[in-house]
Amino acid sequence: MRIARWASLLVAVALLPGLARAETVVKIGAALSMTGPAAAYGAQQKAGILAAVEQINKSGTLKGVKLEAVVEDDGSTKEQGIAVFQRFINKDKVAAIIGPTLSNTAYATNPLAQAAGVPVVAVSNTAPKGITDIGEWIWRVSLTEAQVIPGALKAAQQKLGFKSAGVLYGNDDAFTQGGYAVMKSALEAMGVKTVGTQTFAKPDRDYNAQLTQLLAQKPDILVVSALVENASGIVAQARQLGYQGPILGGNGFNSPKLIENAGKAAEGVLVGTAWNKVSGEKGNQDYLALMKAKGHEPDQFCTQAYVGVEVIAEAIRLSGKGTREGVKAGFLKLKGLVTPLGKFSFQQNRDGDHAPAVQVVKDGKFQIMQ
Ligand code: ALA
Repeated sequence: MRIARWASLLVAVALLPGLARAETVVKIGAALSMTGPAAAYGAQQKAGILAAVEQINKSGTLKGVKLEAVVEDDGSTKEQGIAVFQRFINKDKVAAIIGPTLSNTAYATNPLAQAAGVPVVAVSNTAPKGITDIGEWIWRVSLTEAQVIPGALKAAQQKLGFKSAGVLYGNDDAFTQGGYAVMKSALEAMGVKTVGTQTFAKPDRDYNAQLTQLLAQKPDILVVSALVENASGIVAQARQLGYQGPILGGNGFNSPKLIENAGKAAEGVLVGTAWNKVSGEKGNQDYLALMKAKGHEPDQFCTQAYVGVEVIAEAIRLSGKGTREGVKAGFLKLKGLVTPLGKFSFQQNRDGDHAPAVQVVKDGKFQIMQ
């Protein structure tokens, strides 16, 4: 009896060093808009990140490495985003940062990570210019407006045959401004006449003056670059003013909040999206099953955030190192990773590369336009 107890103690002691070495914790900081005008996206992003971390840890793909997500609220502002990045870089000593939610914030935060040599993975920044240009530590999963909008407009035109457009965009935000620039040149390239252009700002809730002006020009389509809180108000008020034609939005429209807030008015709204949620590919089907088991209905923002963790994990696997340098070295090797967004690779400029899609709101749900 006594001998047996000693023997088991000896075995346990012999295993201890192995156990201690078995798990290196690698921290991933996630700067997400849990409050402020982008809060609808942050909640979904958090769900995606936590699900991916749990899934990767469970799978044992990263032998000896346990991922840990540190989620902080960037408040949808530059100031709070900067404070969160400083904490991640200096205090939590994370191996990589996911976020911030808004491009507008990323322009202010990402130079800090670039200077400190911390890899950043943008999972929702879609401003076409100036994000990955910040430097070699800045990478992006989210497709830009330039990668999604021209194709979405063309697909919509093939179905609807519009010849003129009224354009409305937020003029106080890097993403809505960048999206507008893309919409303007895409419409021009397609030979669609822009009959009017109007602007608003994030705090605005009444768009009647702008919409009245635009609708007086009788456009065949309304094209809108807005974050979702503004987007839902614009859609609802356009319908209240009697407009029954198509409305097409950019990345900011990709939230169930649009349908929740605008209700029936959202029917028929077209949205360029990075995630083909009905894709039958295994990467997507496995993800859908996982999220279903969790009782969470994912949107595009959730899915891109999930992929943000997947690319970091793959980078660690490829380089064999859960360090800042290791993540960056792995990104340089990553190619054709199977994800819910399809086969994912980074382009040479560190922006993401995979196929986009177009959604249409039908029967109170986003449906993929076939
Ligand atoms: N796509 C939005 C942005 O880039 C959320 O700010």
